[in-house]
Amino acid sequence: MTQEEVFKNLTAHCKEYGFIFQSSEIYDGLSAVYDYGQLGVELKNNIKNYWWQAMVRLHDNIVGIDSAIFMHPKIWEASGHVAAFNDPLIDNRDSKKRYRADVLIEDFLAKLEEKINKEVEKGRRKFGETFDEEQFRATNPNVLRIKAKYDETHARMVKALDNNDLEEMRQIIIDSDIVCPISGTKNWTDVRKFNLMFSTQLGNVSGEDGTIYLRPETAQGIFVNFLNVQKTGRMKIPFGIAQIGKAFRNEIVARQFIFRMREFEQMEMQFFIKPGTELDWFAKWKETRLQWHKAIGLGDDKYRFHDHDKLAHYANAATDIEFNFPFGFKELEGIHSRTDFDLGNHQRMSGRKIQYFDPETQESYVPYVIETSIGVDRCVLAVLSSSYHEEALEGGDTRVVLSIPPALAPVKVAVLPLVKKDGLPEKAREILTALRVDFNCQYDEKDSIGKRYRRQDAIGTPYCVTVDHDTLTDGTVTIRYRDTMEQERVPIDALRNIIFDKVSLNSLLTKNI
Ligand code: GAP
Repeated sequence: MTQEEVFKNLTAHCKEYGFIFQSSEIYDGLSAVYDYGQLGVELKNNIKNYWWQAMVRLHDNIVGIDSAIFMHPKIWEASGHVAAFNDPLIDNRDSKKRYRADVLIEDFLAKLEEKINKEVEKGRRKFGETFDEEQFRATNPNVLRIKAKYDETHARMVKALDNNDLEEMRQIIIDSDIVCPISGTKNWTDVRKFNLMFSTQLGNVSGEDGTIYLRPETAQGIFVNFLNVQKTGRMKIPFGIAQIGKAFRNEIVARQFIFRMREFEQMEMQFFIKPGTELDWFAKWKETRLQWHKAIGLGDDKYRFHDHDKLAHYANAATDIEFNFPFGFKELEGIHSRTDFDLGNHQRMSGRKIQYFDPETQESYVPYVIETSIGVDRCVLAVLSSSYHEEALEGGDTRVVLSIPPALAPVKVAVLPLVKKDGLPEKAREILTALRVDFNCQYDEKDSIGKRYRRQDAIGTPYCVTVDHDTLTDGTVTIRYRDTMEQERVPIDALRNIIFDKVSLNSLLTKNI
C-alpha cells in the first residue's frame, strides 16, 4: 500500500472511530476546518497537558497565561502582520486552481533532491561494496548537473523572497517548467500577495475603525502581557511565558487533513533574555524541544531540523523541527530568535515603556526573545500517522491498531466481562469504578471478546482487562497488552500499578529532565 493510501485510510479511520470530523459535515463541510470528536479531544488534551507540564511545571522560570483571542488592532500593526503576513499566490488559468508560488518552487526542489538520491542509489547498486557515496556525489556528472540546477533555483528563490520580488517568483516557475498538477499546463497568472489574517467587526462599529483581527498566532498575547507578568510574578530575566490557544489563518493552500487548517491551536512559549545571549539560548531551546518530541517515542529518526532560508519578518535566526509525515518531512514546530522586534515595536506604538531593569547591572533594556511554537493539530497528526498500522495476523486475520504511546492514548484501559451474565458485568463494573478515578476507562460487554479487543486496538487502548468466572473466586483478571496482544493473569489489586507505570504522563516528563 502506498503512503498516500495509508493516509487516506487513516483519515477515514479518524472519522469512523470518533477522533476527527469535517466541520459542518451535514452542510457538506467547511474547507480546512475540523472538529475533534470524543476520542480526538482526549488525545489532544493529553498532548496539551504533556506540553504544559514539561514547559511550565518542569521549569521554575516559565509561567503560563491565557490571553484573549480578540486584541487591539494596533497590535497587528506593531507586530508587522498587517503589512507583512502575506503569502505569494499564483493561479493556473486552465485549472483555475490557486497555489502558493514558494510552495510550487519548493516542491520542484524536492523533486530534484529525489532525482539526486535515485542516481546515488543506482551508483550503490552498480558499485556494490566498493561504493563511496561522498565521492560519487562530488564527481558523478548527472548528480552534479542536477545539483547545479538545484543550487541555482534555490538561490534565486531565497533572493526573490527576501526582496519580495513577485515577478521573479513567477519567472522561476516559468524557467523551471513547473506545471499545474491538475491541468498539466504552464498557463500561470502573475504572482500576488494575499494577507492571511481574518478580520471582523467589533461591537456595532463598522468600517475601518471597528475592524479587528482573529489572532494568527498566540505570541502577541504574551508580548503585550510581558510587563504584567514580569511585575506581578516578580520574574527575573531569563524567564518564559507559555500559552496554549486557538489561532486563525486564511490559508489558501489548505490540504493534508489537519496539517494545514484555517482554525488551529498553538502551544507557544516566549523566552525573554538579555540582548547578546540569543544565539546560546536559541541553541539550548532547539535541543530542549527536540528532546520533548523524542520522549514521546514515535522514533528519533522521524525528526530533523530545517534551518530557514527566508526568515519571518520578526526573526534573526529560525529553525523548524520537521516530522516525517506520510507525505514527507514537514514543519511541526518553529523555533525563532525574535530579537526585540515585538517588544520594541509595542513600546513605540503604545507609547509605554516596555523594558526590564536588571538589578545586577543597574541597566534597563528591551529584552530579546526566543520563541518555541508548535501546532497542537500537527502534533496530533504526527502521533496518529505514525501509530496507525494495518497488521496481518496469524491465521489470515487482520487488525487495525493505533499504537499511540500509552501516556497519550485517549482511553487507557477497557474493562470487559467475558459474558453478559453470572455476575460478571457487576464485578467488571466494580473494577471499572475503582480504575476510573485514575484513568480514562471504557466498559464494553457487547459482541465476542475478540471483537471487543479489535475495537480497543482500533482506538489505541493500551490495556484490556477481562473479567471471567475465575475472577469471582480468586480475585484475578486477564490483562491484555495492545501491542503484543499477550495476556497475563494478575490480581485485581495489582492493576492500578501495572497500568499507572506506563500511562502516566510522568513516564514522558522524566525524559525531559
Ligand atoms: N508565533 C510564531 C508562529 O506562529 P509559525 O511557524 O507560523 O510561527 C507555528 O507557526 C506552528 O503553528 C507551526 O510550526 C505549525 O505547527 C502550526 N501551524 C501554523 N500554521 C498552521 C495551520 N494553518 N494549520 C495547522 N497548524 C499550523
